Amino acid sequence: MKYVIINGSPRRKNTWKVVKQAKENLNGEFEEIHLRDENIPLCVGCFNCIMEGEEKCPHYNKIHPIIEKIRHCDGIIIASPVYAMNVTALLKNFLDHTAYLYHRPEFFTKKALVCVTTAGAGQKKVANYIDETLRHWGVNKIYKISIACGGKDTIESSEIDKMSLKFFNDLKSGKLHSPKLNDIVFFNVWKAMAVSDNPIEADKKYWNNTGLVNHDFSPEVKLNVFKKAFSKILFFILKRVIK
Ligand SMILES: Cc1cc2nc3c(=O)[nH]c(=O)nc-3n(C[C@H](O)[C@H](O)[C@H](O)COP(=O)(O)O)c2cc1C
Repeated sequence: MKYVIINGSPRRKNTWKVVKQAKENLNGEFEEIHLRDENIPLCVGCFNCIMEGEEKCPHYNKIHPIIEKIRHCDGIIIASPVYAMNVTALLKNFLDHTAYLYHRPEFFTKKALVCVTTAGAGQKKVANYIDETLRHWGVNKIYKISIACGGKDTIESSEIDKMSLKFFNDLKSGKLHSPKLNDIVFFNVWKAMAVSDNPIEADKKYWNNTGLVNHDFSPEVKLNVFKKAFSKILFFILKRVIK
């Protein structure tokens, strides 16, 4: 099993300890990316990744190697402390550079573990924000650990052990989960945009080249009859609505 860890904490303390504890339950190879050491410049808002293709990002040399590591892993681990009720700027800056993945989701066969620490507040909200972002990347299943460390010297490990073992056993099973209806909605929004009269060229190329345009959802992920019908009807409507 191969894991990529993307750690958005600027220091090796609480969040790092949580990830370390989780790793003890995960068998395999780890590639750890500490964003504080990556020196990724701030997203400049040029829209190149979205409109022209991710390779046109001025920071492609920084982002591409990380995305390649995600492409070749089985499990993604994203970790962040809560800063002002959100992820750290280090993680947010990385996520901003992956905004094109909302348009061109590709990680349908990946599963993820989210690790969030806080002094006392915001941990669930921040874990949910990372969860939402990963869902837009296409990630199949996301497990969340959110720990309040305020005033404690030791970190309570039962939630870490429980969730990381669930994540590991799920990865080992090799089974992909059926998507939520919301995931099917977003899949069809981007698919309908890609085939519209006035598509974003990079999106059109991606949806056509991957063949996703011919599917109700990523073909590796099975849909039951109800979800298949839901996807088809939704696409039929969206194609007419989205010009
Ligand atoms: C700049 C900054 C902002 C923070 N904002 C919050 C916050 O909004 N709510 C909270 O409960 N804790 C907040 N904290 C506390 C951290 O989330 C908490 O100590 C976390 O476990 C630190 O993780 P680390 O040891 O990996 O850096 C903040 C800490 C810093 C340094």
